[in-house]
Amino acid sequence: MRRLRVLLVAVLGCAVLLVAAPAASAGGLPKPQPGSTSGGDQYFPAAGNGGYDVLHYDLTLDYTPATRALTARAIVAATATSTLSSFSLDLRDLTVAKLTVNGLPARFTQTGGELVVTPRLPLLKGLPFIVVVDYGGTTGQPEDNTGALYGWISYDDGAFIGNEPEGASTWYPVNDTPKDKATYSFTVTVPQGTTAVANGTLLSQSTRNGRTTSKWVATDPMASYLSMVATGDYTITRSRTASGLPILNAVDDDLSAEDKAATAEVLAKQPEMIDFFQTRFGRYPFSSFGAVVDDDTDAGYALENQTRPIYSGAPDESTVAHELAHQWFGNKVTLGQWRDIWLNEGFATYAEWLWGEHTGTDSPQAGYDFVMSIPASSSFWTVPTADPGPEDLFAAATYYRGGAFLHALRLTIGDDAFWTVIRQWAARPSWVPVSTADLLALSEKVSGRQLDTLFDEWLYQPDKPAPV
Ligand code: ARG
Ligand code: ZN
Repeated sequence: MRRLRVLLVAVLGCAVLLVAAPAASAGGLPKPQPGSTSGGDQYFPAAGNGGYDVLHYDLTLDYTPATRALTARAIVAATATSTLSSFSLDLRDLTVAKLTVNGLPARFTQTGGELVVTPRLPLLKGLPFIVVVDYGGTTGQPEDNTGALYGWISYDDGAFIGNEPEGASTWYPVNDTPKDKATYSFTVTVPQGTTAVANGTLLSQSTRNGRTTSKWVATDPMASYLSMVATGDYTITRSRTASGLPILNAVDDDLSAEDKAATAEVLAKQPEMIDFFQTRFGRYPFSSFGAVVDDDTDAGYALENQTRPIYSGAPDESTVAHELAHQWFGNKVTLGQWRDIWLNEGFATYAEWLWGEHTGTDSPQAGYDFVMSIPASSSFWTVPTADPGPEDLFAAATYYRGGAFLHALRLTIGDDAFWTVIRQWAARPSWVPVSTADLLALSEKVSGRQLDTLFDEWLYQPDKPAPV
């Protein structure tokens, strides 16, 4: 943390010098232009921004659940990818008090979830810059495009965080697109007795004057939809897998005794699940794992927050397997467009079936047979899996038709080719966004078969595919 701060200050110092010098002798440099206020997603064009790439978010959050008062500072370290006269960050329903770019106060406006910043000096393509945003307000219970709770969901005892797809902007200024991964550090201060849990590793915890501050660092580059600082009446327990991977679980004290026992039983299986999936998908991609189990169930879903999935209520075993599988499929190998959401959910569903096969309760074939038993007249088949539309992002087809498609692919190309595809897919670099076309190309390369018709029938047509 301290070393990070020193580094940030050093980068800041250099950036001021570098930006100041060439701007003074402009000559043949490109003319500074405003950065795009869109990250280019077809379904969520307002999310994300253009013209820069974030390296690191350092978030300092002071939160009081009883009043929902949030006072925060975000230090955003980024690199300009074009020469910018202004740029934007996504931030909703919170008010910026003060903002600097490279140490100099900058002009800013806040409209419709866009924080548009005009730095005093243009930002030159290729150079780093540092934005410090002091902001805050009263947090609420934000809803996504379908009316589901997401983002920073406030409760009397803390907050449940589930940003997917573009809810990170409900609690910090962010380039809210999965295409721009960054590392994170969090310093969170809450009333004594409340516990804050974030992604990654807990560095320290200390209490002064009735308030507890904890510091967390997430060193594995992460998409903003997977970032999290949950707060609540949590008890933290730590352990390690046989191979030494640190596990940190946070379980809500307010769960019933029955739910606590069920949660403990399921979470105890995480090490075995990690070992099992490693034999199928390759090495676990991050430096820690664990769960946040909250007693508030209004969100009604679980989310695969990087290294630390969050659950509304006591999770069942297949859900824990599902969120763990997302660490490979979604979190490490990340989509570039939200319409490819089935690449996350179809793979995680298939992983549930694999875990069920391992424990003797289910299997990929049974999952496939179940999906194929859905009548052709059902509306289930009307959602094209690889382009469901923003309203149907989390439709049943995204999960089950996606999972069944992977089994259809396996039956078509055979086990050897299928497992090579899965392992090579999981081994893709985390910083290169993926699409359905990439999976088609890989599957054809590995199998030596032409598979465009199979992909088209299963993933793009609004009706039931023929059995394979
Ligand atoms: N990705 C989550 C899962 O593992 C579901 C998230 C639902 N999010 C929402 N905004 N409705 O299934
Ligand atoms: Zn999922």
